[in-house]
Amino acid sequence: MRVFMETIRRVAGKFKMDGRTHSGAALCERVAPRRHAIDCARRCSCSIELPVGITGKHRQHPPPPADGTDRSAACAAFCTDIMDSPSRLSGLTIALHWTVAAGVLGLIALGLYMVQREAWPLYHLHKSIGLLVFCAIIVRVLWRLKNGLPKPVRVFSRMEHRAAVFAHALLLLATLAMPLTGMLYSAASGHGFGIFGATLVSENHDPASSAVVPRDAQLSDGGQTAHGVIGYLLLALIALHVGGAMKHHFLDRDRTLLRMLGVSPKGAAQTIARDKV
Ligand code: HEM
Ligand code: HEM
Repeated sequence: MRVFMETIRRVAGKFKMDGRTHSGAALCERVAPRRHAIDCARRCSCSIELPVGITGKHRQHPPPPADGTDRSAACAAFCTDIMDSPSRLSGLTIALHWTVAAGVLGLIALGLYMVQREAWPLYHLHKSIGLLVFCAIIVRVLWRLKNGLPKPVRVFSRMEHRAAVFAHALLLLATLAMPLTGMLYSAASGHGFGIFGATLVSENHDPASSAVVPRDAQLSDGGQTAHGVIGYLLLALIALHVGGAMKHHFLDRDRTLLRMLGVSPKGAAQTIARDKV
């Protein structure tokens, strides 16, 4: 998974200009201000010194605070909101995380309720919201492929770090699998699906009795089982994940949860204000 993400990132970092292939860093020193900002934020993991000879906006990059306060806080706050860094996550990462989290938790509750109570009118609502959340999930997975998973807020043991990466990758895969299996089941069972009245896959009726009939009974059964099983697995994963977040906050007392809530590190604003004087 890591190798796959790294390859995607490397490829995405290359681009063509004037008939030649450049790396993101080369462009940083030449033209595009947006790319420049992205590169600046990428360098802001702050254990890395800024390369000599960087021009333009990098000149204004704050020097390491003389009093030894956390340099990464100053750097990250100075850099743009575009990329994630160890001390703060981009607005997009935070917005996508909480949108998908709320959507998925709501859909699990709605899905379990409607199946147990056989509340048929709620099926359309579940499918419509599920498709909208699917769009956010796609954007999020693409963003993770481009940006990688957030770097840890502090040094963890290798085991702990690997477990976190594995759990996050599983969460991403499971959130992707849920809408896909839901769509598979709905299409193959002949019930179809759409978004709030706009049909995407129509119902499949038997011409003689006009009853809904499966398009493919085997695929329908497979899709239904997978949607249910992955749904329960996802719920268990989320419980572990939330437990992990609480452990970081209340036992380890680190910034993992605060960073995902968008709370700025203490001292960042003061350091920047002082550097600008
Ligand atoms: C992140 C998105 C989604 C989540 C988390 C989710 C979750 C769930 C859950 C937990 C159930 C109950 C499963 C059971 O008790 O067997 C369920 C049922 C169902 N979901 Fe979803 N769902 C999502 C998206 C979708 C989508 C996009 C569709 C279709 C377009 C869909 C169609 C269905 C259907 C038809 C059922 C009823 C299954 C049955 O009767 O056994 N879901 N969903
Ligand atoms: C109340 C519920 C939740 C809390 C308190 C919470 C908390 C967090 C925190 C603190 C992180 C950052 C971890 C780090 O920096 O290493 C994180 C990341 C993550 N969370 Fe959650 N989370 C919640 C719900 C969910 C749900 C429902 C999902 C999936 C459906 C989810 C999926 C992820 C993923 C994939 C990441 C990796 C980073 C990313 O892709 O944004 N979380 N979460």
